[in-house]
Amino acid sequence: MDGYGPGSYGEHFADVYDDWYGDVSDVAATVTGVIELAAGGPILELGVGTGRLAIPLAAGGVDIVGVDASPAMLDRLRAKEGGSAVTLIEADMAEPPVAADHFALVFAAFNTFFNLTDDDAQRRCFANVARALRPAGRLVIEGFVPPSEGLSDGGVSVRTITTDRAVLSASQHDPATQMIRGQHIDISAAGIRMRPWVVRYRTPEQLDALASATGFSLEARLADWSGTPWSDGAENHISVYRLTGSAPADAPRGRGIGGNGQVG
Ligand SMILES: C[S@@+](CC[C@H](N)C(=O)[O-])C[C@H]1O[C@@H](n2cnc3c(N)ncnc32)[C@H](O)[C@@H]1O
Repeated sequence: MDGYGPGSYGEHFADVYDDWYGDVSDVAATVTGVIELAAGGPILELGVGTGRLAIPLAAGGVDIVGVDASPAMLDRLRAKEGGSAVTLIEADMAEPPVAADHFALVFAAFNTFFNLTDDDAQRRCFANVARALRPAGRLVIEGFVPPSEGLSDGGVSVRTITTDRAVLSASQHDPATQMIRGQHIDISAAGIRMRPWVVRYRTPEQLDALASATGFSLEARLADWSGTPWSDGAENHISVYRLTGSAPADAPRGRGIGGNGQVG
């Protein structure tokens, strides 16, 4: 999609994100699970957004850094109660400028990893996360599982209709590249607001291959944060990867922001 870059999603969704997606997953169960996996160490959230998860994590006493490419999303986070407890970095999550060997856990929630829309960015992200993690640190990715029969080609549907507003959702799926390009078309008396989004989805097996190429092994896979075992047919997965090898030599080194450097 022409002109669509790392900051585009957030810039087009920041004003509605909490209303539309605030309850998209179980925040309390996620926070409990993430804290358990980090075992008291510092955490990095990729695509931290408006702080839906990072703020409750910080409230739980966790040292947390959030990276996001969208100033509008980060402004929303900062404006919230408890937002100042999260260290923020405005950057592309493919190359988060963080200290090497620092974090106990890095996570990307709710399909956020698929916001990296090309192979190279996804590979760089894994490699740079490997650098940012302490030895035996964990990378957790939460994503949808593409159905075995394949996703539909796309189409147009109605997201919401009220007396003064209609939100239509249009999408186009390319199975060859595993890309979905979409628009939420937000129509009201104020005019038409286009809200574009693009995802490059991966199967769990493809994520496993990316992980093993960058020094990770799959430690666990669950269907949700309540601990439901993952099985064929599950709609979502939470994949926990453990750093067991060394990061690839070509991964760029972080610029040194650890748990206390407020940036962006
Ligand atoms: C679906 S939202 C998820 C926000 C938050 N993690 C949550 O669960 O509510 C995806 C977030 O990733 C950010 N994002 C998308 N592409 C990015 C990139 N390349 N680098 C950094 N952030 C990115 C967006 O700005 C947005 O805040």
